[in-house]
Amino acid sequence: MHLPQPEYDASTPIGIFDSGVGGLSILRHIHALLPHEALMYFADSGFAPYGEKPESVIVERALSIADFLIQQNCKALVVACNTATAAAIAALRAKYPSLIVVGVEPGLKPAAAQTKSNIVGVLATERTLASDKFQALHEQHTASGDVRFLQQACIGLADQIEKGELSSIQTVSLVRRYVEPLITQGADTLVLGCTHYPFVLEQIVAVTKSLHKEVNIIDTGDAVARHLQRLLEQAHLYHPSAPKQAPLTAFTTGSHSSLRSAFKVLLGLSPEVREVSVAPT
Ligand code: DGL
Repeated sequence: MHLPQPEYDASTPIGIFDSGVGGLSILRHIHALLPHEALMYFADSGFAPYGEKPESVIVERALSIADFLIQQNCKALVVACNTATAAAIAALRAKYPSLIVVGVEPGLKPAAAQTKSNIVGVLATERTLASDKFQALHEQHTASGDVRFLQQACIGLADQIEKGELSSIQTVSLVRRYVEPLITQGADTLVLGCTHYPFVLEQIVAVTKSLHKEVNIIDTGDAVARHLQRLLEQAHLYHPSAPKQAPLTAFTTGSHSSLRSAFKVLLGLSPEVREVSVAPT
């Protein structure tokens, strides 16, 4: 059943969601590229991490969050989470056929274009790597070329980032545990296939440097923002300018002080944050 969709125009906000703070790595690119757009961010931190949950649970969460953001009135929805995109983007598009819905997926294509060793490491959640969507993407990029993709599930890493532990001993040792084997197997390109991981980029680079290797790191945040801009322009919903700073609001199913502090520490932004709960409709 399709829910009735509210009326929107160019000044209506864009809704962005993730299991937690990872989607802020996408929001920062959207905010930089489209500074006049009003943004609403939803962190499902009360249910994070998604990466180790069954697909049916993630689909249910994604549909409930989308309903919530659409009720707040948003003209486009960005699924700023690889795990939720893999699990739920088809269900979201089926439920909201006339809404702009943008997802994120591991950047296998740019990685294949940049690798010289023809070995690429893909860092992502267990759930993303196991999904049919990722397996189809993987087949598409292995069928046509010589590139080998080494898949590394980074269990526990998104959780550390969610806790705000970007450089603790535990986080640094998890990063080393996941990155080192990829480099020693010859990967010269690493795909950040989870939106939380750009926030430990420094730690990833430190591991590669300690092994005396220079690697390409693929983060598709900027490409996602540019894709969103194109879709808004095509739908005549792009908001090119505004007299004052466009509003930024945030919602969380976790603690408002944690999300507020994540915005401040990770992006230097201070939006109004509200704690909410969303349940299946
Ligand atoms: N940020 C999410 C992603 O891009 C997943 C993190 C989690 O496990 O919740 O896949």
